[in-house]
Amino acid sequence: MGTIVSPSLLAADFMNLGKEIEMVNRSEAEWVHLDIMDGVFVPNISYGLPVVEQIKKASRKVLDVHLMIVQPERYVEAFRKAGADILTVHAEASAHLHRTLQQIKACGMKAGVALNPHTPVGTLEDIIGEADVVLVMSVNPGFGGQSFIAHAVEKVRKLKRLIEEAGSEALIEVDGGVNTETGRLLVEAGADALVAGSFVFRSEHPEETIRELKELKA
Ligand code: DX5
Ligand code: ZN
Repeated sequence: MGTIVSPSLLAADFMNLGKEIEMVNRSEAEWVHLDIMDGVFVPNISYGLPVVEQIKKASRKVLDVHLMIVQPERYVEAFRKAGADILTVHAEASAHLHRTLQQIKACGMKAGVALNPHTPVGTLEDIIGEADVVLVMSVNPGFGGQSFIAHAVEKVRKLKRLIEEAGSEALIEVDGGVNTETGRLLVEAGADALVAGSFVFRSEHPEETIRELKELKA
């Protein structure tokens, strides 16, 4: 099956978003990654629900929505209505993470939990059974094009162990500074899905770049 690739539209050309989505549709990516930022949890604001709704109409891929917002539980239903298939919230942003993950699943989505670079994998020990996806941040969230924090590789290894010990089926996704070089290390460490923004959309042949990431194997 290869690695799941989730191109991050944050790096797309917003004046030509339709064309960028068509490129992703033609590619071998299984997911498409949407970054939602509120200017509070992270020092940047991206785009919101009306844009997600339009992307849903054009995209044939799994909508992988990454919420970088405080109290994400307030918007679970709204993102389901807008078309999210996977909804990922930050462990640092939700006081009642267990309830939030259940709320996401009750709405019919896959539930993801994201960890900032400073948040230890052990935080998930008592909740890993509820998560469908764990998103390991390999940059501090808020911006595309940052350099990869190498410690993420070790975190993926630890997380893989935690998941296996718990008998969980959660997928490990990694986000930030991913290219074929860092991607290879991550896949070897146990990553199932790779998010890539600038590496895909700034590349000369984005579809080919997606294929290269997809072909990475453990
Ligand atoms: C960062 C976002 C990422 C971002 C990744 O806060 O969560 O999804 O788009 O961009 P690159 O791949 O350029 O690091
Ligand atoms: Zn993201």
